[in-house]
Amino acid sequence: MRRGRARLAGRAATGLAVAALLGAALTACGAGPRERVLTFSGSALGQEGAVVRRQLARFAALHPGVRVELRPTPDAADQRHQLYVQWLNAHVSEPDVLQLDVIWTPEFAAAGWILPLDRFRPPVDSFFPATIAANRWGGRLYALPWFVDVGMLYWRRDLLPGPPSSLETLPADVGAAQRRAGLPYGFVWQGARYEGLVTVFSEVLGGFGGRILDDSGDVVVDAPAAVRALTYLRDLILRDGVSPAAVLTWQEEQSRFAFQNGQAVLLRNWPYAYAAMSDPAESRVAGRFAVAPMPAAPGGAPTAALGGSQLAVNAYSDQPEDAYALIRFLLAPAQMLERARAVGQFPTRPALYDTPELAAALAVPPAEARRVIERAVPRPVTPVYTQLSEILQIELHRALTRQAEPAAALHEAARRMRRLLERTGLAPGARRAAR
Ligand code: GLC
Repeated sequence: MRRGRARLAGRAATGLAVAALLGAALTACGAGPRERVLTFSGSALGQEGAVVRRQLARFAALHPGVRVELRPTPDAADQRHQLYVQWLNAHVSEPDVLQLDVIWTPEFAAAGWILPLDRFRPPVDSFFPATIAANRWGGRLYALPWFVDVGMLYWRRDLLPGPPSSLETLPADVGAAQRRAGLPYGFVWQGARYEGLVTVFSEVLGGFGGRILDDSGDVVVDAPAAVRALTYLRDLILRDGVSPAAVLTWQEEQSRFAFQNGQAVLLRNWPYAYAAMSDPAESRVAGRFAVAPMPAAPGGAPTAALGGSQLAVNAYSDQPEDAYALIRFLLAPAQMLERARAVGQFPTRPALYDTPELAAALAVPPAEARRVIERAVPRPVTPVYTQLSEILQIELHRALTRQAEPAAALHEAARRMRRLLERTGLAPGARRAAR
């Protein structure tokens, strides 16, 4: 028996973990004598599931003796993270290949849960530099970028003369369009207490000229620009009435449904939403919307959060070579282009942005997508990102739900974030002293 299976089975794992494990055990019993079963975990909803299944089958066809199985995981970033932490903490050998959010690589690397990939000599120069930088920890590379996400503004072409040009004028312009069209909502976004809220906040924050950490790693999320950004988000709901209070419980999909049902003028979301909302069978706004960068306020810069998925090898995998071969296959240009065509996700290889294939696949002109990607702002690259984000999520949400004033909430967040960095020896002062 592969190490770890029994250990995990003995724990109170989630239903999903147990189901995945049972499936794996049954498969292992049924596998032929020389057949190797490689397991892959990741998003498998709708078209994304269909395309990944097709690609895994093609890989298996190219590698006789290898069978690849998909272990679907929850789509919400924080839930997937929790499941991975359970699996990896228990040192299970499956899944062999993991789909990671861009913000998890340093944490998983520092915990020893994913393998450094340098020995496979990956072609790092073929990918956007920011996506490679996010996957390095302690001088080694721990994951490779699969697709890149950037936050974008979806706007109704039939209701607005153009995309909002400034955060300052956005509420009035959107409110007027909302009233003219008699829609229930103006601007919908992800305001539930989870990772998505931090990405939305970081975009408005950049729009006001603020940041979470500065270049030296100091927490600056309580600076005046940050207070203005959080007040702005809160005013969209409380003062301007263009965002419904319901956004405070919404993740990506709920906000997409509101927009695609024709209930809103503006939506903040990732590139996947374009393809999903362009299907007239599902979407009432197919052909009636366009995308634009998030606008800024005076003194800030238009900001897109850098998101996306990475592929990494489980450090406890029994078959790291096969696992890396699968990653290499999934990251090949042909597979990236197929993904772009099927689900509209942006490839991580800049060279593809000059090809007619990508121009035909994406709704956004590739040159424009590339400009947004190259300027996208990463979230802090640190092994304690999850904890920092959790602190911020709580305090942002407290301010948005009127349990605290924006300034007080951000001061509290900053205080707790500084304390966390000090406790873990990651505060800039401690790091300077250790050098
Ligand atoms: C998307 C992004 C990811 C981000 C998440 C937040 O999945 O790719 O980076 O953390 O949304 O909900």
